[in-house]
Amino acid sequence: MAEDSTLEQILEKYGNEREALVEILRDASQAAGYVSPEALATIAQRLGLPQSQVHSVASFYSLISLKPMGKHVIRFCQDAPCHVAGGREVWEALEQTLGVPFGATTSDKQWTLLATSCIGACSVGPVMMVDDEIYGNLTPDRVREVLAQVGGDV
Ligand code: FES
Repeated sequence: MAEDSTLEQILEKYGNEREALVEILRDASQAAGYVSPEALATIAQRLGLPQSQVHSVASFYSLISLKPMGKHVIRFCQDAPCHVAGGREVWEALEQTLGVPFGATTSDKQWTLLATSCIGACSVGPVMMVDDEIYGNLTPDRVREVLAQVGGDV
């Protein structure tokens, strides 16, 4: 299976080193869209670590997903500076436009909507990341524009 060989390549790249656990998980998550229970078990076995430890490291990092993600992943900053800059209205606009609550993926698998902590762009809050791109000074209208621009079908 293609996913298996990709994971093999990632493990080889880092020489099955325990010290590279976070990098391995991050790369595996990026490659497959998430780290499946099977991939997690393989990583644990190859690095000689308990699965519970690998799972808890994977759960800690927001860039590592343990659930299948949509084609585009939105990470909206929920910290105070963005919140007071109008984050609440933008949060609601995201949920309304996509028709899913935070933490969920749309039924067409196009979008996953996640909340995150500060991404270091507080001066232009409210802020969100869509895939690797940061969008600031968000308003409900601007959110709809960005989603149409990225997805083309919202
Ligand atoms: S608080 Fe939102 S980017 Fe810093």
